[in-house]
Amino acid sequence: AHQWRGVINEYAERLPVDQDTKVITLGEGGTPLVFAPALSELTGNKVYLKVEGMNPTGSFKDRGMTMAMTAAVQAGAQAVVCASTGNTSASAAAYATQAGLKCAVLVPDGRIAMGKLSQAIAHGAELLQVDGNFDDCLDIARKLSEYYPVFLVNSVNPARIQGQKTAAFEIVDALGDAPDFHILPVGNAGNITAYWKGYTEYSQPYDSPTGGVLPAVSTKRPIMWGFQAAGAAPFVAGHPITNPETIATAIRIGNPASWDGAIAARDESGGLIDAVTDEEILEAHRWLSSKEGVFVEPGSAAGVAGLLKYHRAGNAPTGATIAITVTGHGLKDPQWALKGADGTEVQPTKVGADVLSTAKVLGLA
Ligand code: F0G
Repeated sequence: AHQWRGVINEYAERLPVDQDTKVITLGEGGTPLVFAPALSELTGNKVYLKVEGMNPTGSFKDRGMTMAMTAAVQAGAQAVVCASTGNTSASAAAYATQAGLKCAVLVPDGRIAMGKLSQAIAHGAELLQVDGNFDDCLDIARKLSEYYPVFLVNSVNPARIQGQKTAAFEIVDALGDAPDFHILPVGNAGNITAYWKGYTEYSQPYDSPTGGVLPAVSTKRPIMWGFQAAGAAPFVAGHPITNPETIATAIRIGNPASWDGAIAARDESGGLIDAVTDEEILEAHRWLSSKEGVFVEPGSAAGVAGLLKYHRAGNAPTGATIAITVTGHGLKDPQWALKGADGTEVQPTKVGADVLSTAKVLGLA
């Protein structure tokens, strides 16, 4: 029986690894590309969701972390460090555990979702809550790795981007060609950089590190649409933001590390990077759970929020194939599901422990 072997083993000929590389993997990647009937119907497109919450630690970060942790082991590192809004730290903690490495994670104090915090703790990472935001954390992590013997596993490490590009490969492999549009949330901008790299490499002959040239797999590259939270939208402002604010803590970032990569993806594809409000993000979050059956964390819904916004304004494409990455699992940050559209707590209906009262409440009797 075939079992998915993780992104390094599945795409070895397109990654900087060789036969002797000791691969650190939890079986990441191979995530479902789910047809979204309601979004397709509403917008008149074929809309697919790349459900990255199905990765081992519940976010797309695992694709990059398998590469980064493999590189750390190869480099003889004893300890790894990262800054994180939560998902990177959860992933780093899990992969470091398998690799047998110490792991230190720097997170913004009080602004990371409980699910993610508990993952880092469960995997035994040294968890440091920094009195600052993500951008401060990344600054410290970079300097720690510069001055001390710790290996940086943030997406400024090119190994991370290498691993994350495999999501684009999977989408092309599933659809038979690249989609017309690819839409995704943008925070630190590693992921949009990685997708563009993956789509680009799949669209032209590729000089494999294993020797030989692989033929192009796709006939084209998609137009890239990235969406940031309105209170944390440096690409829309055109410069870094000092005090980023959004309920979507995953993408509460003011000074993205992969600035140039995101601009290249946007401009070379003829795409855009725009902002969506927290209300639009939460609306998309509810849309995904109540109409498509896909439960994501709020930040993950920014791409869907962007499509809904552009559709409402009459600026969305029609008749196109659209892939949207939903980046992390809803169980990471479940509190948002317990609020209605008006912001009030949703209360479960209490019933007696008998069939008749249950049937009555259900309108069956
Ligand atoms: N969606 C989720 C759920 C994320 O956790 C992140 C980033 C993004 C989108 C944005 O991706 O940074 O590549 O543009 N989370 C990082 C972290 C910053 O620390 O977990 P990006």
